[in-house]
Amino acid sequence: MSQDPLTPYGNRPMVTPIVNAVNYEYRDFEVLRKITDGEIDGYTYHRDDNPTVRAVEKQIAAMEGSEDCVVCTTGMAACTMVYLSYLKTGDNVIFFHDIYGGNYKVSLILEKMGIDITWIDADESSKLEKYLKPNTTMIFLETPTNPLCKIIDIAAARRAADKVGARLVVDNTFATPYHQLPLKLGAHMVIHSATKALGGHNDLMAGAIAVSKEDYETLWFTRQAIGTTLDAYSASLLERGLKTFELRAAKMAENGQAVAEYLATNPRVSRLFYPGLKSDPGHAIASKQMHAGFGGMMSFDVGRSQDDAKRFICGLKVIYHAVSLGATESLICIPHLTTMLYLPPERRALFGVKENSVRLSVGIEPADRLVEDLKQALGKL
Ligand SMILES: Cc1ncc(COP(=O)(O)O)c(C=O)c1O
Repeated sequence: MSQDPLTPYGNRPMVTPIVNAVNYEYRDFEVLRKITDGEIDGYTYHRDDNPTVRAVEKQIAAMEGSEDCVVCTTGMAACTMVYLSYLKTGDNVIFFHDIYGGNYKVSLILEKMGIDITWIDADESSKLEKYLKPNTTMIFLETPTNPLCKIIDIAAARRAADKVGARLVVDNTFATPYHQLPLKLGAHMVIHSATKALGGHNDLMAGAIAVSKEDYETLWFTRQAIGTTLDAYSASLLERGLKTFELRAAKMAENGQAVAEYLATNPRVSRLFYPGLKSDPGHAIASKQMHAGFGGMMSFDVGRSQDDAKRFICGLKVIYHAVSLGATESLICIPHLTTMLYLPPERRALFGVKENSVRLSVGIEPADRLVEDLKQALGKL
C-alpha cells in the first residue's frame, strides 16, 4: 500500500495535485546529496522545481515530440530565457520583423548587452542566407507570424542556420503542436506562450520551451537562477487546459477556415492573410509543414482607414475586442494600437502592417455565429 499521505489507499488522483510548497523537508543528508547531484528527481525549493510544473512539462514535451520541456512564468519569459542562455556579447541574432512585439522590447535590452541584431522581413525568408554573418548564432522566427500570419519555411530556415552553425528557435504559439511540429522540421527548440491555446481560457500566463535533454539542463539552470518558475496553481490550470487542447484546436481550425472563406468574399475586407486559403501567399509552404488544418489566427485590412477598423470592431457583438489569442472566445484587435504600440511608427509600417489591419483569433463558438457577427459589423461600414 502506498505510504504517500496524498494517496493512502494507493489510488492515484485523476488530477496532478497542486503542490503549493516553497520548500521540502530532506529525510536525510543522503537524500539531499542525491537531489543536488541530480541522481534523483527530488524537490528542494520552488524556484528550482515543482512537481505540478514538472507534470505539465512532461505533457508539453510529449505534444511537441521533444525530450523535455521547461515551463516558466510567461511566453516572454521563455523567449528571454532562451536569449540569456544562448546569446553572448558579439553574437548576431536574426529576428523577423513580424514576431510578437514584446520581442522588440527585449531586443533593446539585448543591444545594450552588445548583441548585434539583424531584422528581416518574413517575405525575405527564402533569402535568409544573404543575411547570415559569421557570428550569427541564432535565428528566431514565428510561423504563422504575428500579426500578419505570413508563413516561413522551417526546413529551409534550418538549412540556412546550418551554414553558420546557428541555433534555430521557432515560436509555435500561433500554429500550436496540433498543426505543426517544428522540431520534426528542423528547429532546435520550440517556444510557446502557453498563455494562449495551450492554456486556452484567458485565465493563466505561462511559457514553455520544448527542448533536448541537454538544453533542458541549460534552461533549467537559467530559470532557477533568475526566478521565472511558474507557480503551481497556474501549472494546474495549464494542465486542465491541455486536457481539451486538441478538441479546441480542431474547432478553432474549422472555424478559422470558415471565417476566412467568408471574409475573402466581403468587399470591405481589402487584404486577408490566412494560410488555409488557396490564394494566400503562404499556402503552399503551410500545406507542407502544417497538418490537420491551419489554425484560428488570421489578419485582414478593414475599409480604408483606422476609423473604419475601429467602427467595425465596435460593431461586433460576439467577437471580443481584446488582445491575446488562442482562447475559447474569439478575440480581435488592431495591432497598431496594441501588440505593436511600442514599435517606432516607421518600424510598424515597414513590414506591411497597416493602421486598419486587424488580427482575429477565432475561438470555439459555432462558426455561423461568428460569420453572422462579422457580416453585420462589416455591413455597417
Ligand atoms: C507569438 C507570441 N509569442 C510570445 C508571446 C508572449 O507571451 P506572453 O504574453 O505569455 O508573455 C505572445 C503574446 O501575445 C505571442 O503572441
